[in-house]
Amino acid sequence: MSVHKEVKKVTTHQLQEMKRRGEKIAMLTAYDYTMAKIIDHAGIDVILVGDSASNVMAGHETTLPITLDQMIYHASSVIRAIDRALVVVDLPFGSYQGNSKEALTSAIKIMKESGAHAVKLEGGREIKDSIERILSAGIPVMGHLGLTPQSIYKFGTYTVRAKEEEEAQRLINDAKILEESGCFALVVEKIPAKLAAEVSNSISIPVIGIGAGGGVDGQVLVTHDMLGMTHEFSPRFLRRYLSLYESMTGAFQQYIKDVKSKDFPNETEQY
Ligand code: KIV
Repeated sequence: MSVHKEVKKVTTHQLQEMKRRGEKIAMLTAYDYTMAKIIDHAGIDVILVGDSASNVMAGHETTLPITLDQMIYHASSVIRAIDRALVVVDLPFGSYQGNSKEALTSAIKIMKESGAHAVKLEGGREIKDSIERILSAGIPVMGHLGLTPQSIYKFGTYTVRAKEEEEAQRLINDAKILEESGCFALVVEKIPAKLAAEVSNSISIPVIGIGAGGGVDGQVLVTHDMLGMTHEFSPRFLRRYLSLYESMTGAFQQYIKDVKSKDFPNETEQY
C-alpha cells in the first residue's frame, strides 16, 4: 500500500479565504526548476515567475526587454518543480498593452505552453478591458499597482509611489476597479504603508505588498534579493535572510584554490 500523502494545492479561492481569516500570504519569485523546488518544498503559498527575471536572470537594467517566449521558458521550468504553490506568471512588457485581444492571446499562450495557474498584469483602469477579457477565458488575473517597473521610463525613478494625495486616491480607485474587474489578488509595490493598509481595508481580495509595510494581506520579495545573492541592491524594505553573495564567493574561491593546488579531487573523489 502506498503511504504517499496527497499534497493540497494552493488555489486562488484559498488565498481569498486566508485574507478573510487574517492569515498572511507568503509569496516569492522563482525563475528556474531548482530554486522553485526548494521554495515550494519550504511551504510557500505563491510563486511569482516575475518579469524581474529580466534583471536577475538576464542582467538587463529594466524589465522591458524580456519576451513572452522567455517568460514561458522560465514559467515551464518552475511549473515542473511545483507540488503545492500557486504559480503566477507576469505578462511581459509589450505583450498586453496593445489591446484586450492581444492581452488574451498572450495570457492563453502562457497558460497553454507553461502550465501556469494565473497571470499578473501591471496597471489600473487602463487595462480593465484586458483583465476582463482574460478572465472571460477562465484565466485568473493578479493586478499590480504602485511602482510598476514596466513603466519606469514614464516614472523616471524607482522611488516610492503615491506619496501625494491625488496619486494615492487614484491608486485606491484603481484597486477597487481591479477588484470589480475580477482580479483574485493584487500586488502593491513601494507605496506608503498607511496607504497600502487603506487599500487592503477597502477591497476584499488579498493585497500582497513589496515595500508596502505590514498592513497588507501578504508579502512578496525577489528571492535572489532576500537570499543576499544580489548585493548591490539594498532598498529599505528588503530583509536579507542569507548573505549568499559572500558565502558563494567563498565557496568558488575555495574550489579554484583546491583545483589549482591539486587538492581536488582526492582519492575518495574518483573512480
Ligand atoms: O517581477 C517581479 O518580481 C514582481 C515583484 C517585484 C512583485 O513583479
